Amino acid sequence: MHILGIETSCDETGVAIYAAEGGLLAHSLYSQTELHLAFGGVVPELASRDHLQKLLPLISQTLDSAQLEPQDIGGIAYTAGPGLMGALLVGAALARSLGYAWNVPTLGVHHLEGHLLAPMLEPSAPEFPFLALLVSGGHTLLIAVVGLGQYRILGETLDDAVGEAFDKTAKLLGLPYPGGALLAQLAENGRPEHFHFPRPMTDRPGLDFSFSGLKTSALNTIRQAETAAQGDKSIWEQTRADIARAFEEAIVDTLLIKCFRALKQTGMQRLVIAGGVGANVSLRQALQTQAASQNIQVFFPRLEFCTDNGAMIAYAGYQRMRLGQHDISLEITVHPRWSLEQLSK
Ligand code: KG4
Ligand code: ZN
Repeated sequence: MHILGIETSCDETGVAIYAAEGGLLAHSLYSQTELHLAFGGVVPELASRDHLQKLLPLISQTLDSAQLEPQDIGGIAYTAGPGLMGALLVGAALARSLGYAWNVPTLGVHHLEGHLLAPMLEPSAPEFPFLALLVSGGHTLLIAVVGLGQYRILGETLDDAVGEAFDKTAKLLGLPYPGGALLAQLAENGRPEHFHFPRPMTDRPGLDFSFSGLKTSALNTIRQAETAAQGDKSIWEQTRADIARAFEEAIVDTLLIKCFRALKQTGMQRLVIAGGVGANVSLRQALQTQAASQNIQVFFPRLEFCTDNGAMIAYAGYQRMRLGQHDISLEITVHPRWSLEQLSK
């Protein structure tokens, strides 16, 4: 069975083909980052219109690169939520239409389930059960993943998501949106221990997170440091990098503390990192070092499958469709808000 996967929940158009035999056969991605750059964030209406233009050509291109014809496709999986209403509708409407035209079943997939299962596309795939840290622009979750569709949320952010904290602080440092990866790049030139930020909610029990205070603390620090630099460009350049480094360290430390606390509480031996912030190299290195010292196996998707992509949707769709799951109603529905735990029920 060959499953076509379609991702359009936010600002990336992703398409992929996953096969029972052969695994991931092809994947293509079109990122709208440039389109939204001037606005400092994703403009939902522009996102929908762009998906509309890019999706069908991207599907043709992906079929071509897998050397397949539409009649080789046995099912279509698309992101049905959570995400931007208009963007989701473009993917869902096209997936359902192709499903009717090609006479194959379709299935709406949960975007976060896609992220959670993405490490399973790698040669050394994790086995169930595992603890997952899902860190993206919209979510920060610690999840006990017992099996396909069996998800228990152990901790989540009470305010900003980690990716959001990265992006907002990056903006304060003068970096363009989405600044997470650029802040990490800037941090590479930062000197250790020139600044210090709090590790929010680590001094009390529990597995929830809070990042809005950290962002405010960064704002105050940046303002003070900018004044202290007195317009000296080279001082300010070094100071920006020092702040970026301290900020990244605070985030990495906080995530590390909570992950290992959750591993201890659940007795789980495997840790999966998923979502866009999982591409952060400092986070990957710190987790790997601590995991090695505690006999914990840690799994990451390859860098390009940390951020949004079609491959994770094709894979999650394949896992469900091979169990016979597919859309039944003729109505095209998407779920801009959709909790993972609702999916488990
Ligand atoms: O999973 P994703 O592509 O989209 C959402 O579903 O949100 O995650 C995007 C987020 C953005 O906030 C982006 O700044 C962040 O992931 N991100 C990073 C890095 N690469 C992407 N944050 C820190 N370091 C990185 N290297
Ligand atoms: Zn995502």
